Amino acid sequence: MALTPFGWVDEPHTKRQKHKKEILRLLRRKQNVMLIGPGGIGKTTMLREISDELAESAYYIESPNPPKSALKTAFIEIGGFHDDDLKEMKFSSWTVQQVVKELIKLCEGKNFVLVLDSLDRITVSSSDWLKELAESEVTILGAARKTKEEKELLDRFFWTAKTITLQPLSDREILEIIKAQVNDSLSPIRFKDKNAEHFFGKTVVTSSKGIPIVAVQMCQKARGTKQVSLTFVREELMTAHKASVKYIDLTPLILIAVGLIGALRYIGRGMGNQELYIIAGTLAAAAIIIRVLMPRRSRQRKA
Ligand SMILES: Nc1ncnc2c1ncn2[C@@H]1O[C@H](COP(=O)(O)OP(=O)(O)O)[C@@H](O)[C@H]1O
Ligand SMILES: [Mg+2]
Repeated sequence: MALTPFGWVDEPHTKRQKHKKEILRLLRRKQNVMLIGPGGIGKTTMLREISDELAESAYYIESPNPPKSALKTAFIEIGGFHDDDLKEMKFSSWTVQQVVKELIKLCEGKNFVLVLDSLDRITVSSSDWLKELAESEVTILGAARKTKEEKELLDRFFWTAKTITLQPLSDREILEIIKAQVNDSLSPIRFKDKNAEHFFGKTVVTSSKGIPIVAVQMCQKARGTKQVSLTFVREELMTAHKASVKYIDLTPLILIAVGLIGALRYIGRGMGNQELYIIAGTLAAAAIIIRVLMPRRSRQRKA
């Protein structure tokens, strides 16, 4: 595919815009919606854009924790309350349950959308009020990184919600981000020549794999240098990106496995179980071979 960075015209129907339309359509029908995707995929960006679009009929909450203060701002905003009103209501002594009840009352007949970001940070007690809100007349638009532990908690809410998984952006969408970053009015990115600009665009598109935050971070790195050259892209940008790709350290797991194999050998011998003894011996030999090979691989990686 011949990429010509910065030369493409805007596409009217990107994947994200389709998602946005779909989300707005669901919310209008009072359907709870849950946005799912890894960190940096663009959940917060989407939530904020939708909150802006819905204006007064929506309220954006950055985090469900701590629950009372998270809901307090929403309650004040929707009710148009002042400090004196809160004092009169004795708000400071209210329980979270109470805040939720009053919030639901405030939203009655309003077709209101409560936008809840970072729901992966939710606790067991918070998931109770989330459930109550989700089953009320208030419509919820949530976002979360879905990990195994949180899944169980969130499932209590998910079943009422339509889940939308944000996919990585297309190459064109990433290019749009790069273009915006390069032409940033306050601090544009400067290039040595056209070649460097092309190479930079291509590298960011390929390395980001559609994850917007990676593209943004690479552009920020380029902004930090006086002039982006081919060498900069090759030696600073590409290597920094590779180094930041996490790899899981298996050493503790391997040590435990070796310990278990050793124990197994003793158990086999103690019980006079010849098979177990042989199997454990074979595993131990395999572990030693792996151990011998492992450091070489990591040395190669560092080079
Ligand atoms: N559609 C998009 N267009 C341009 N930039 C985006 C888009 N989505 C996300 N970004 C950028 O990517 C970064 C991470 O996005 P964010 O919405 O915070 O992700 P998440 O909430 O999923 O972790 C931000 O710097 C944001 O500006
Ligand atoms: Mg976010």
